[in-house]
Amino acid sequence: MNKESVINYKKASEYWAEIPATLDGVLGGFGFISDIDINGSELFLQSLLSSDNAPATRSALDCGAGIGRITKYLLAPHFDTVDVIEPDGKFIKSIMNFVGEYKIKMGTLYQTSLQMFEPEKKYDVIWNQWVLGYLKDIDLISYLECCRNALSQNGILIVKENVTSSGRTEGDETDSSITRPLKEYLKIFKLAKLKRIKQCKQTNFPTGIYPVYMFALIPNDNDIEMIQTESTETSKQ
Ligand SMILES: C[S@@+](CC[C@H](N)C(=O)[O-])C[C@H]1O[C@@H](n2cnc3c(N)ncnc32)[C@H](O)[C@@H]1O
Repeated sequence: MNKESVINYKKASEYWAEIPATLDGVLGGFGFISDIDINGSELFLQSLLSSDNAPATRSALDCGAGIGRITKYLLAPHFDTVDVIEPDGKFIKSIMNFVGEYKIKMGTLYQTSLQMFEPEKKYDVIWNQWVLGYLKDIDLISYLECCRNALSQNGILIVKENVTSSGRTEGDETDSSITRPLKEYLKIFKLAKLKRIKQCKQTNFPTGIYPVYMFALIPNDNDIEMIQTESTETSKQ
């Protein structure tokens, strides 16, 4: 069976409608890994912000934002304004309260899905985490193309997602999502005319969960890809 057939946009939104607006809720019972996840993301983001041709820190977009976990702990401390995309009404209503003191940095909260999103402005960083498994390949490619066109000068698109160890796409009927292998993401990035400038495996996560990778992507104007690959532990040194 084609694993992609597990994806059903209506069923996924019905699944999320039943999930409480808490850290444990948005992380599927793994709220306790949030700090480790944010630490790994912080190192990755800092290395990009201090690199040659670093993006500006005016505006970021948090895609599939849930209750605003990444906005609050990662993006708002670095960027002047953060916009979010989140289809679930209950999650989007909880964001302003959840981000607390960063409320003043919040820009537009788009209550829509990634596959329907039409960017209205340019962003320095667009962060996609634990959400791309809800999109069919064809929609994911168009969405990434939209994001590519919505990057400001030196802007970077980040993807942080689970990948399978089996090398195959695996489906999850519970939330109508799929988990792709690394090579599938690389194929999709190429089709969306994005090139990797940095790739990093998240470390210190508990055993028994999918490996998690971070990719920093920029528009691919020629075909050459030069990437730094490392684990978050390496980048701590
Ligand atoms: C596992 S949670 C991750 C939330 C957040 N990215 C984080 O890491 O804390 C997945 C989120 O994706 C949202 N989502 C599911 N399908 C989506 C879609 N097609 N477009 C945008 N968001 C979607 C859900 O409503 C939920 O908030």
